[in-house]
Amino acid sequence: MNSEYLLTLNDLNNQSPEYIETLFALSNGHLGIRTSSVVKGKTTHGNPGTFINGFYDTHPIVYGEWAYGYAKNHQTIVKLPDIRSLIIEIDGEKSNETDWLVEQTDFQLNMKTGMLEERYEIETLQGKKFTLSLCSFLSYSHSEISIFQYTIEALNFSGEMMITKNIAFQESKANDEGTIDPRVASSKSKLGIKQLNNEWLEVRTEFSGQAILISQLMETTDGANEIGCQSVSKRVFVRENQAVILTNYVVLSKPLTTDNCHVIETEKNKLTEVRNSLKFDQLVEEQVQHFSEFWQASDIEITGDPILQKGIRFNVFHLYQNAGRDGLTNFAAKGLTGEGYEGHYFWDTEMYILPFFIYTQPKIAKQLLTYRVSILPKAQERAKELAQESGALFAWRTINGEEASAYYPAGTAQVHINADIAYAFQLYERVTGDHQFIAESGAEVIFETARFWLNYGSWIGAEFCINGVTGPDEYTALVNNNYYTNKMAQNNLSYAVTLAQRLNSVKEEEWSAWQEAAEGMKLPYDHEQQLIKQDDTFFEKAKWPFAETPKENYPLLLHYHPMIIYKHQVCKQADALLAEMLFPQDYSMEQIQRDYQFYEDVTTHDSSLSRSIFSILASRTKQLDKAYSYFMDTALMDLTDLQGNAKDGIHAANMGGSWLSIIYGFAGLTSAGQTIQIENHLPKEIEALAFKLTIHGTPVKVQMDQQELNVTLLESNELSIKQVTKNKVIIVIH
Ligand code: BGC
Repeated sequence: MNSEYLLTLNDLNNQSPEYIETLFALSNGHLGIRTSSVVKGKTTHGNPGTFINGFYDTHPIVYGEWAYGYAKNHQTIVKLPDIRSLIIEIDGEKSNETDWLVEQTDFQLNMKTGMLEERYEIETLQGKKFTLSLCSFLSYSHSEISIFQYTIEALNFSGEMMITKNIAFQESKANDEGTIDPRVASSKSKLGIKQLNNEWLEVRTEFSGQAILISQLMETTDGANEIGCQSVSKRVFVRENQAVILTNYVVLSKPLTTDNCHVIETEKNKLTEVRNSLKFDQLVEEQVQHFSEFWQASDIEITGDPILQKGIRFNVFHLYQNAGRDGLTNFAAKGLTGEGYEGHYFWDTEMYILPFFIYTQPKIAKQLLTYRVSILPKAQERAKELAQESGALFAWRTINGEEASAYYPAGTAQVHINADIAYAFQLYERVTGDHQFIAESGAEVIFETARFWLNYGSWIGAEFCINGVTGPDEYTALVNNNYYTNKMAQNNLSYAVTLAQRLNSVKEEEWSAWQEAAEGMKLPYDHEQQLIKQDDTFFEKAKWPFAETPKENYPLLLHYHPMIIYKHQVCKQADALLAEMLFPQDYSMEQIQRDYQFYEDVTTHDSSLSRSIFSILASRTKQLDKAYSYFMDTALMDLTDLQGNAKDGIHAANMGGSWLSIIYGFAGLTSAGQTIQIENHLPKEIEALAFKLTIHGTPVKVQMDQQELNVTLLESNELSIKQVTKNKVIIVIH
């Protein structure tokens, strides 16, 4: 077994239970389980929990001072109890009421198969010793099913054991420790628990009108099954040195948005059938096959640095695990690994995560985009609420499509999300060639977002301006003409014009107004310094006093009032540079170099979305040492707990960013029109790099080392390759 696919405790920077729970978390896009300890004693540590994508509760946001149009309700992903732990009873001693000696002797996540293997050596108060091994995984063929196989072996006794699997509902611990971190969940939900019959439990949220169904089945080697909901128990007889195997399947349904008993009954019956037909060996086989196909399409091979190799696989693995796949859910900022950011979906998906899926897993990319199509009606309502005659404004952060950002300067005002979404549809179309999806579903999103720009922006003199908005840099709020926003809106409008002409579905009068706005878009520039201006007034502010700011005062957002931050020239993350990264054909190398130097000096990287962009641009401007150093921070961010808060969940956008740093940075991938260009910028620390892309359904293999670049089409159809130089290749889409 290749150890570069195995995650063990030795790979981690700290051993705190909460951190381990996040890093070893399992997910399949529908379910996510934090991997807390399996035998919990009287004194439990950590923050165990299970999440269901899109299962959230809501409650009113209470404002000290309210204003018209503020977001009305919080949406918070529901944290369900841990579903992996066992209660073991021997001679009247219960594992959850005493503190037995529990030593973890093995703990490894096999990223090649998505299976987690653990082993514990346990000793009761009376000195009875046994081992407990557990194999856990979440099915990808039946996403509602989680599988746990426990193997118990008595070491110095024979006798009875009572094994109970109990799903114990308890309160969330988020923000309970006295620290107020705005990046963590801000509310707790009260759940209504109703036993429907002996086999099924209904768990209903208090306000969001959602319910899920839970059931479980316990199977032992003797062939007898126990079926239950909240709790199943099994009495087993263990003989010294003989293994007893218990297989437990827990079923957690998709969120149902109804209390109609017929709908619930139908779902229950469907899942009962699935549950009763499960076979462990078959599930294992399917899992191995599924992940083998995943790695086949999405692996990145790095020669010469095993730690980095594992770090990259770890990131790609979590990206794959945590994406919603049903067209109704998306990719939360922390995936399904923790409560950070309340399970909300942000622009992170479109700008940092989707490229990985578009280029290597296009079917999942389509599902993530379909989610945006599904919430378009909410975005249209929101635009109306903001006094826009027509068009759509997508929520800055949301689960159900409604705006959930209680702090509008760094939330709703980030209207660039509209153009980010449009950009992702455009990239999807270019790379997959799926024109049908765009015509049938995507185009309406593009037109409605274009309408928003035309309504919200204004012609001021000869320039089309977008005023009173916040760009990606959340340390600069409510500005006029944020460069990134305007550039992206311009692209959104132009793409809308292209689609309107191609599909002939919008009146010329309307699309020509979009065209004019795109052409007249203000893109702030300082001619004297020859620098792109982040916004109209960025250069009129005083520089942040970096030299006088102690290290412990970062991230600034936890130490300074927003007013103090906003009045300074300081960036939380890449902003104007992100625009240059996305549209390289529009900027000279000298321009990018100048801007890079300037913005690097004023950027704190307090957001995990920052470093990858700096790495990519450093690669493209041939500052390879810098590119590598930023890249290493992104590649190993959660494995080293660089941001110090991985306990609240993975930094999913950064994981996508590390993929971007390799593909857009080291492999210099850029795309425009009908071409995709690849250029070798491999830093000296990496001997060789290999990965695959899927372009217009065709697998493309890219290999590069310190000497040359090779691109091969695994099956040739719509693509051809032009080798421009030894280190530059253009893929042409016919
Ligand atoms: C970043 C945003 C990001 C959000 C969720 C914030 O810290 O500034 O750009 O969308 O985190 O990841």
